[in-house]
Amino acid sequence: MKTNIGISEKDVKITSGILATLLADQHVLYVKTRNYHWNVEGENFIQHHEFFEKQYTQLAEMIDEVAERMRYLGVKAPGTMAEFIDASQLVEAKDKKVNAKDMLSNLLADHETIIKALRSDIEKCDETSDAGTVDFLTANMQAHEKMAWMLRAHLM
Ligand SMILES: [Fe+2]
Repeated sequence: MKTNIGISEKDVKITSGILATLLADQHVLYVKTRNYHWNVEGENFIQHHEFFEKQYTQLAEMIDEVAERMRYLGVKAPGTMAEFIDASQLVEAKDKKVNAKDMLSNLLADHETIIKALRSDIEKCDETSDAGTVDFLTANMQAHEKMAWMLRAHLM
């Protein structure tokens, strides 16, 4: 059934495209955070291990909301790793010999990339009639800002 909620097809294309990129970025970041949860070592092992778990758990919840928002707009959500890697602005963590400090820095850089992209995406969405997605992306940006702060605080 066609979605009839007062957003033009052109606007849905813009906002759902932004959501698809966010979904891809959050997946790559989710896997990277989980990779670090498994492979972190060092004197603060348990602290970092648990901190990374908290962050990837939060990302998993955010991912679900992003994909489902695409469905509210009447668009199919991408659901394969190939699509996520292809659409993401982030690069996967392939190096297994990363120390905890570099793990924190790498995750911080990825959150900052997402925050900056969202900030300009929100401006683009502001020109559409999709006020719900503007609000949703703003909440996502705020959540990434908080996660970035948590990572940054470890590096002071
Ligand atoms: Fe675990």
